[in-house]
Amino acid sequence: MPLVCICSPKGGVGKTTVAANLAYALARSGNKVLVIDFDVQNALRLHFGVPISDGRGFVSEAAGASDWSQFILKAGSNTFVLPYGEVDESQRLQFEHELTSDPNFLQRGLNTVLNYPGLIVIADFPPGPSPALKAVQTIADLHVIVMLADTASLSLLPQMENHKFIGSPLNNKKGEYYVVNQIDMRRTLNRDVTQFFEQRLNEKLLGTIHRDECVPEANASQRSIIDFSPVSAAAFDIELISKKVAAILGIKVGDGEFHTSLKSDTY
Ligand SMILES: Nc1ncnc2c1ncn2[C@@H]1O[C@H](COP(=O)(O)OP(=O)(O)O)[C@@H](O)[C@H]1O
Ligand SMILES: [Mg+2]
Repeated sequence: MPLVCICSPKGGVGKTTVAANLAYALARSGNKVLVIDFDVQNALRLHFGVPISDGRGFVSEAAGASDWSQFILKAGSNTFVLPYGEVDESQRLQFEHELTSDPNFLQRGLNTVLNYPGLIVIADFPPGPSPALKAVQTIADLHVIVMLADTASLSLLPQMENHKFIGSPLNNKKGEYYVVNQIDMRRTLNRDVTQFFEQRLNEKLLGTIHRDECVPEANASQRSIIDFSPVSAAAFDIELISKKVAAILGIKVGDGEFHTSLKSDTY
């Protein structure tokens, strides 16, 4: 079933926020969604009601276990979370060693979940070209690259477009798309960079997300932005992005089925 990867060359840009809210949006439209955390920060679970004191996860507990599905926690009626877990430095290094040395390690770990009928899997990655991001290349269906509307993100765009990030295209299936997060049209530089991204990326830009105080507030109360503040600009933005992701993957949302081509203007 589809594996969507949320990544970025940069940290603190909203990857985990986008992963969580995209998962909520797709679950809300009737899909079963599993989120997987590949970041040692282990923060994705906090968006899904897992207590901060709960250190369970597939990296912390999976020593010797080849199937990670046994470490999945149920978060809601349609949502499931596979946390990274609380690990020490040697566990992290061991996990990264296995990812780099055994080309089938990741696929074995995810085999059961990827074969679960109808399940959408959304994976959240640490910043930069991590071992997990490289290992997922052969099994990923779609990558969503999160950028900010700032000059630092802009300067990294050629590196992303020229596939210098991991040395090859991020996946061999639906390809890579972009989200520009924290846009603020009142700030000139932010607005100019956003417009540049829109023109340059064209249909590769899934959408932009407004900078909105509701977003961290929703995070803090472990709710999706769509539940927390349904009329906010950010909720609208996420909803639109989730529909485009569904369209690319050919996933049913609500009553209708979206077309697989992004070129359609039916969103
Ligand atoms: N659209 C937004 N508006 C306001 N704050 C945001 C927005 N997106 C993310 N944030 C905040 O930015 C911070 C970093 O987000 P996070 O998802 O943890 O980034 P990353 O996973 O890339 O490190 C968090 O405090 C989050 O609440
Ligand atoms: Mg993160």
